[in-house]
Amino acid sequence: MDRFKSTTRAIPETGPIPRHLAIIMDGNGRWARRRYLPRIAGHRRGVETVRGVIRVCIERGIEYLTLFAFSSENWRRPKEEVSFLMQLFIGALEQEVAKLHENNIRFKVIGDLARFESRLERMIEDAERLTADNSRLTLTVAANYGGRWDVLQATRRMLEARPELARGFGEQDLAPYLAMHYAPEPDLFIRTGGEQRISNFLLWQLAYTELYFTDTLWPDFDSAALDLAIRSYQKRERRFGRTSEQLKGGEASADASRVAEKSA
Ligand code: IPE
Ligand code: IPE
Ligand code: MG
Repeated sequence: MDRFKSTTRAIPETGPIPRHLAIIMDGNGRWARRRYLPRIAGHRRGVETVRGVIRVCIERGIEYLTLFAFSSENWRRPKEEVSFLMQLFIGALEQEVAKLHENNIRFKVIGDLARFESRLERMIEDAERLTADNSRLTLTVAANYGGRWDVLQATRRMLEARPELARGFGEQDLAPYLAMHYAPEPDLFIRTGGEQRISNFLLWQLAYTELYFTDTLWPDFDSAALDLAIRSYQKRERRFGRTSEQLKGGEASADASRVAEKSA
């Protein structure tokens, strides 16, 4: 797990293209309502947007793409909508997994899978196994995911495996048990659909992520919209607690990162 340094324990290397992009795909229902269509029509269109975004991520050299598809609170929606979303997920897996594999994409799902029907759980496991060694892009779908669930399940599993840590533990002890232990922390977070909130997405992992909110509804989020977000990211100064002056003088920032590593 030490392949990926925690942003609070060490300063990561950053470049003009986010290595890890995490997206809350919001606004499907409103997109449909505006066209006098049922909400589910928006979800169906949303799947097409996902295809396009995956393609652009590969073209731009993004290594990890994480998509929030269903939150632990989305069970509160009308039964019919929940079951449509589950069918849509199953259908998308049936249709897309082979293509993901052909395109050298590693597929992962994070979230509490126990609540899904067993057929879906099995399909997810098969897709993860099939694509495990692919290396062009890691596509993670967050399904029945909640940031609080993640921190709690990680803590519980850590203490089961290492009961001696009940007396005290650090970030590095917990990290391997978090759902996204296989990825660096997100560099850029995008939420479409106009709301400016995290809605219990990756709470732990977003500690130093750049946040970008757009009014564009998810079904309308195309390559131009994604490029706009990336351009906004490129204008950000990622200080990780340091001053702007330190970033400009290379020497000073190297010192700071050594100090950060020591005190972590
Ligand atoms: C996001 O779109 C998709 C899911 C949460 C599954 P919404 O369904 O939340 O769309 P709005 O926010 O109602 O427009
Ligand atoms: C967040 O969207 C979850 C997903 C996109 C899967 P919601 O539409 O459920 O979020 P809230 O309820 O507006 O916060
Ligand atoms: Mg919504």
